[in-house]
Parts: sequence; C-alpha cells; structure tokens
Amino acid sequence: MDSVVKKFGLLSMKWTSRALPLTNKSFVVIVLILVFMSFLLMAYLCPEGICPQSLRSIPDHHFDGRSLDTAFKDNLGKPLSQSSHPLYHYKLSFDDMINVNEFVFDIKGNDVIVFLHIQKTGGTTFGRHLVRDLDLEKPCLCKKGRKKCKCIRPDSEAKLWLFSRYSTGWKCGLHADFTELMGCVDNALDESERQRTKRRYFYITLLREPISRFLSEYRHVQRGATWKTSRHMCGGRVPTKDELPSCYAGTDWRDVTIEEFISCEHNLAINRQTRMLADLTLVDCYNKSFMSAKERDVILLASAKENLRRMAFFGLCEHQKISQYLFEMSFHLNFLQPFVQLNETHSTLTYSHLKPDLVNKIKRLNHLDIELYEFAKQLLYDRFKKMKNSDQNFGFNYNNLGVSHQINRNDVSDKNSAKIDDILSDYHYY
Ligand SMILES: *[C@@H]1O[C@H](CO)[C@@H](O)[C@H](O)[C@H]1NC(C)=O
Ligand SMILES: *[C@@H]1O[C@H](CO)[C@@H](O)[C@H](O)[C@H]1NC(C)=O
Repeated sequence: MDSVVKKFGLLSMKWTSRALPLTNKSFVVIVLILVFMSFLLMAYLCPEGICPQSLRSIPDHHFDGRSLDTAFKDNLGKPLSQSSHPLYHYKLSFDDMINVNEFVFDIKGNDVIVFLHIQKTGGTTFGRHLVRDLDLEKPCLCKKGRKKCKCIRPDSEAKLWLFSRYSTGWKCGLHADFTELMGCVDNALDESERQRTKRRYFYITLLREPISRFLSEYRHVQRGATWKTSRHMCGGRVPTKDELPSCYAGTDWRDVTIEEFISCEHNLAINRQTRMLADLTLVDCYNKSFMSAKERDVILLASAKENLRRMAFFGLCEHQKISQYLFEMSFHLNFLQPFVQLNETHSTLTYSHLKPDLVNKIKRLNHLDIELYEFAKQLLYDRFKKMKNSDQNFGFNYNNLGVSHQINRNDVSDKNSAKIDDILSDYHYY
C-alpha cells in the first residue's frame, strides 16, 4: 500500500508541474481525474466480497476508527498471529449493520454468524433455533439422532455460514470464549472448507441476569457438570495448572455446597460472562501476577463491554421476544417459531430460598457481571428503540414474531400500532 501511495504521489507531482502553466479550470479537471483514479485504485485494492457493495456504503466510522485511541480498541481481540490487513478479519457490529442502507446478510457470499455460547444463558435453546428454525432458502440439514446439522450456503456444497455448537460443533474448544474464537474461527473454517476465504464475521451472543446464571451453573456443577475439556486458549497456549488451578480434586465437583462453590477463588463461574466476552490477552490471560486485581477487573470489564457493543447481535435471556425481534430485524432473517419466555426456573427458585447475606456475597463476587449486565440492558433497550423507530410495521412485526411468514410483512398495514405503548411500558419494568 505504501509503495502504491508513493508511486501515486510521484505521478501527481509530475502532473501538477506540467499543469502549472495551465488555467485554473484545467487544473481542477486534473485534480478531478486524480480523485477519480484514486477511487478506482481503492476499489481495486478492496477485495471483492469483503467490502460492502459500494465504497460509499461503508460507514465512515470504520475509517475514523483508525485514529489513535480507537486504533488501540480496534486491536481488541484481533487474532494474535495473523495477517493485519484491516479488512481480513472484518467483523460487523450492530451499528455497522443498521447504518448501511439495504444491509443484507449475504448468506451466499462470505458472511458468517459466529455464536459465542456462554454457559447457562439459554444458549442451547437459541442454538437450536438457529439451526432448525430459520426461514432460509436452504435450511440447515438436520438428521434425526445427529447432534449437528449441516448449515451450508445455498449455492455451495461445503461452505458454512454458521459457526456454532449445533452446526460446526465445538471447533474452537468447548464453550469457546471471545479470546479463543477470535484466534481460531477463521482458520477452523478455512480448514473445514479446505480453502482460504476472506469472510465477514457477525458475532452474536446471549447474556443472562448474573445471579440466576451463577446459581444455574452451580446446580449444573452440583449435578456433575465440569466443562473440564474447555481449553481456555489465550496468547497462543493453554493456562498452566498454577495459572488456573482446579477447584476440586476428583473427577468432578458433584454435591458441592453453595458455600464451597463460592469460596473457590478460581471458580470460572464467577464473572463468567465478563471473562468470556473480554479479550484476555489484554490482562496476560490467566496469570494474575502481572497486575493488581483491581486493574485486571477494570480492563476485563471495559473490554467485555466494548466487545459486546461491537457484536452484530446479543440477546438477553430475560427478554426473549425483544431478542428475537432484534435478531430478525438486524439480519433480515426470520425464525419460524416464537421464542418462549420460560417462567421461573430452578435457579430463580434457589435464589429466593437463599439467605440474604449469601445472596449479597454472590452479588459482590459477581460484581463485574452485574455491571456488564446493566450495560447490556441499556444497550439492548437503545438498539430496540432504534430498530422500532425505523420499523414502519413495528406493531405487526413485534406481535407476529415467528408466526407467519407467508405474507409479506411490509404489505400489511399496521393495525396494531395502539399496542406499541403497552409493549414499551411492559418493557420498562427493569
Ligand atoms: C506468572 O508469570 C510469571 C512470569 O512469567 C511466573 O513467574 C509465574 O510463575 C506465573 N504465575 C503462575 C501462577 O503461573
Ligand atoms: C408462564 O406463566 C404464565 C402465567 O403464570 C403462563 O400463562 C404461561 O403459559 C407460562 N409460560 C410458560 C412457558 O410456561
């Protein structure tokens, strides 16, 4: 790129020195030609399928993002040892998607949805919706008795558009976190498609109210779950036993009491959502001796919030309907079933049966997740409001999520607009 710019600079110097004796008018013409040529050059340098259809449709802030402080942020979560081409690992956020007119998730092109599945956030149900329930030209191929479905692009035999447990499996490790996915997804897809491709990535995830999630994880561990095959790759290696000690001695932590569960400081359940969304390379991965606990917390939380904000979509377990609406509206993909808002689960029952000082202890332990969740609620609300305001058939669309896709939603007049206020006031309860 540099050499191209230099050549180009020389070229323009020649041209302008010849232009000196000419009139102002022809000077302007020459400048215009130069500008035009530089556009051609940019279009040439911009690889097909990575850039949106036209250069103008790239939101400005992509390139504003090159300025100093966001250049730092831009490096958040970049794969560690790979091409630094700015468009190579192109990730699209929600803002990128809604700021582009006529945005389409190009399922036939090189767009890929990557589902970051945090334990006990409702991700299993959502993951199933993704493979079984989307209204697609070529639905995922799911066979009875098989856990995984084949989610192949419509015009292809082997190219994948969905990276998730129920499509690709745990290719980047069991419940891979943000750090692991960023360093792995691209290579994993190249490998499984047996060719190198430049793709656009759309990261999505779900979050859940942190105390319910924590208690739900506790119950799961109590029943014998361990997730001990999770790799926790970070900085090119897995953590040592000293960096990430086990909380229990045997094969699992079955029958652990809640007091034991919360007193193990290495328990990965603690602030799990923040840790799994943060770029752990910013805090030297799992080795806690490089900075104070306070500093580590501040960086983890800031990174998790930033990464969440940069996601194409996230949903909240407590707001299934809004989550479904946001997903459908942002990707222009519809589900064939409405998401179900489950009533109180086991863990919320546990919640109300715990002693208040124990609940307070759990809250203090999970303070990062609590702050992240507050941030996520506000962000979800902002995104919902933005989407609702741009949706002329909001009332109809919102009330018919997953119901019927035989009729073109845009052709239906909005008879339900009176209900919008109810929905919004409903929404305000948190
Ligand atoms: C963390 O890294 C330092 C320096 O490399 C090392 O001396 C220390 O043993 C590591 N800590 C743990 C818990 O492994
Ligand atoms: C949740 O509870 C409400 C009222 O108690 C009930 O109408 C609804 O069907 C329940 N939903 C589920 C998914 O069980």
